[in-house]
Amino acid sequence: MGVRNITQPPDGKHREKLAPDIPDESIVIAALFHDPGKVGYPGKPHYLPNGNRWEVEKRNMTYRTNPEAMTMNLAMRSLYLIGNRVDLTEDEAQAIVSHDGIYPVSGGVNNLDYHHKECRLQMIVHFADKWTAAVDEEGRG
Ligand SMILES: [Fe+2]
Repeated sequence: MGVRNITQPPDGKHREKLAPDIPDESIVIAALFHDPGKVGYPGKPHYLPNGNRWEVEKRNMTYRTNPEAMTMNLAMRSLYLIGNRVDLTEDEAQAIVSHDGIYPVSGGVNNLDYHHKECRLQMIVHFADKWTAAVDEEGRG
């Protein structure tokens, strides 16, 4: 995935220059566990198939969010799911919970608690995640 590609490119030069003191384990843990919140809760998937045929065919809305799932932002749900199963460092926890939404997008920052207080591990995860979404998945050139 993108996180691995950015933090550990084949030549290792980026990793060595950006964060030689951050343990590989922390990068792997934060990378692996930043997005499980996308899945939802045990027994309550976050996304369900959209049963509205018109929305699927006319608007390509192939899924809907589960109305029975507790409202919680994705990153916080990731921390909720992982935090009591894996001993996380403070940096790993911050990287997971704040990897999304701390930079201005379309008129505002929606996660001000971490703005300009992010640790370097958070910046690595955020950048790799952003790169994956924008460049690898959306094809932004
Ligand atoms: Fe992600």
